[in-house]
Amino acid sequence: MSISYIAEKKLFTIHTVHSTWQMKVGRYGHLLHVYYGKRTEDTDLSYLIREMDRGFCGYPYEARDDRGYSLDTLPQEYPCFGAGDYRTACLHVIHADGSQAAELRYVSHRIYEGRYSLPGLPSVRASDTEAQTLEIFLRDRNSGLEVILYYGVLEQSDVITRACRIQNSGEAPIRLLRALSCCVDFADGDLDMISFYGRHSMERNVQRLPVPHGRLSSGSTRGTSSHQANPFVILCDRSAGEEQGNCYGMTFVYSGNFLAEAEVNQVNQPRFVMGIHPDGFCWTLEKGEEFITPEVILTYSSDGFEALSGNLHDLYREHLLPRQFRDRRHPVLLNNWEVTEFDFTEEELLSLAESAADLGIELFAMDDGWFGDRNRDGSGLGDWTVNREKLPSGLSGLSKKIRKMGMQFGIWIEPEMVNEDSDLYRAHPDWCLHIPGRRPNLERCQLVLDMFRREVRDYLFDSISKAIDEAAASYVKWDMNRSLSDVWSAELPADRQGETAHRYVLGLYELMDRFTGKYPDILWEGCSGGGGRFDAGILCYMPQIWCSDDTDAIERISIQYGTSFGYPICSVGAHVSASPNLQTGRSISLKTRAEVAMAGTFGYEMDVRTLNGEEREQVRRQVQEYQKYGDIIRQGNYYRLTNPYENHVYAAWQFVSKDQTESLVSFVLLHAEANPPFRQLRIRGLKEDVRYRINEEERVYTGSALMYAGLPLPVLWGDYQSTHFYIRQI
Ligand code: DGJ
Repeated sequence: MSISYIAEKKLFTIHTVHSTWQMKVGRYGHLLHVYYGKRTEDTDLSYLIREMDRGFCGYPYEARDDRGYSLDTLPQEYPCFGAGDYRTACLHVIHADGSQAAELRYVSHRIYEGRYSLPGLPSVRASDTEAQTLEIFLRDRNSGLEVILYYGVLEQSDVITRACRIQNSGEAPIRLLRALSCCVDFADGDLDMISFYGRHSMERNVQRLPVPHGRLSSGSTRGTSSHQANPFVILCDRSAGEEQGNCYGMTFVYSGNFLAEAEVNQVNQPRFVMGIHPDGFCWTLEKGEEFITPEVILTYSSDGFEALSGNLHDLYREHLLPRQFRDRRHPVLLNNWEVTEFDFTEEELLSLAESAADLGIELFAMDDGWFGDRNRDGSGLGDWTVNREKLPSGLSGLSKKIRKMGMQFGIWIEPEMVNEDSDLYRAHPDWCLHIPGRRPNLERCQLVLDMFRREVRDYLFDSISKAIDEAAASYVKWDMNRSLSDVWSAELPADRQGETAHRYVLGLYELMDRFTGKYPDILWEGCSGGGGRFDAGILCYMPQIWCSDDTDAIERISIQYGTSFGYPICSVGAHVSASPNLQTGRSISLKTRAEVAMAGTFGYEMDVRTLNGEEREQVRRQVQEYQKYGDIIRQGNYYRLTNPYENHVYAAWQFVSKDQTESLVSFVLLHAEANPPFRQLRIRGLKEDVRYRINEEERVYTGSALMYAGLPLPVLWGDYQSTHFYIRQI
């Protein structure tokens, strides 16, 4: 049993293979957090809850002389605003009388095999033998406010998931101003928070800051998880690194506004909370109504970030990404966006496809520009019928010709958007998010459709399904190219407008669910101007996400590095593009561009017709290499061997097959030096006493030699040169 309850102590203990979570019902009924960290064998750890009568720290009314029992300093599982805890809270409500206090106390609990369900929301999937659930039922004595806390335990994955159901069992309405998904209180410790900030074309930069007195947060109020922040953070010891130290990963399974916030209180106890961002959020619960928070995935490692990322990569592959893609290699694709943008004809696409097919490329993805009057970014979005001027034989004609070349065919869509210059907008100007009487903020000349509206989703489902059928598509890229603003829905009354942003996301998930349910064999790729919606919510529906619109291989090294902390490599869309690169002007060899893109789903986004004979041969070999190494890359363990923020001379990373018989190491020289020192790269994850051969050379190395003495790196000449090493057990 991974979950146990000792009734006389009112003590709950959750064990995973390497971690323990403990909590206890306090003397006055509050659910107190006891411990989350390295596994401890069955011990009552509640000695960690220490009490002291401190000035300016209140206590519940019935505690009276028991003044050390203060919600201001006690560690809690689901803290509320307004009743004596002044730290960042999970729940903040307004009752019908205008009061804002809530105090949740334990009522009952339930433990069962399998997972809880969160209707309408994506979440981790596991069978009854793989997971257990603990539900704890809490109630506010003075109102109808009730909360069920869910703890999902995947013991073997070292993962605990959290979510909650907030319900109003009283007569009067309750308004939720803040309804976060989880809190982790620590008894002590100097912690750092690592968050992943960015901008369009430079996502998931790594920022590590000490958790301060006062609040440190990472979040998005853009309606999407965003380029600017990512709903994944790590809390860790000050000394934690790749291979050592306590660290905690927290991932929000959600694609809209989020908040991840940490603080240290007056007596040096760190608190962390995560959930839907409260800015702009307000949700009314009428009598009998409930609100379900999205899920947070928590994992712990005592051995640093490498093991933490490993837990998450395995969890995603086994329990989060659509199952049917788990063992499927991604087809190597060619995307025409950086080749043609909007300016193409059927003839041109066919000549590009023909050239790609000759190189062994397996799928042709037709990007933006195939529909409506889509000759620029200012028109056509919303009109999901083929543009016959560009494609006279329609989607089916083009698709047939491409499939005849032996390639699969795929299309690009951006369902959530509309241009004012479109038939859809002319017919339904009210279908977009807008505030009556106020001119909306524009981004890329487009407006956002109100995904909460059923008729909007139905229109999109019908018109896009038709296009997918006509195209006989094996692949669909779902793009989203702006942030939400003017968030107001004609479907909701004035006092419920604070629900619009979340209802948008629920509508989005409903539509994604419908599409992926109808077309389970299509390979869906998420995208939002590159990686503006790279999150666990999308990955429940789509097994891969276009990682960034920055295709410069050298910049990609750090984008992919940041992404790898929280997300598996098999989900990272990565392409070889032209040189000089369109975003940076940097010239990089074809070899390096390909080796970097192989740390992802691998494809090309360049005019392969312009390659000379030798380059064509090179691309053919690259496609074959990816086919050969695809399994290790997709299913193996991943190791960050260098940190691009610290090592500006070279970058290296490594994949190792689960059985440790094969490995692929990639090395890129970032900065060439005159008279360079010799370097040995200490690689990871091999078996110490097993003998390996590198690139089929004669010489044999033991795993321990390669891991501890190191693999001798070649002296390369010229910036941005690269090489990779295929290591195989003999
Ligand atoms: C943004 C995406 O990230 C690009 O790859 C491309 O699909 C464009 N949108 C098309 O408009």
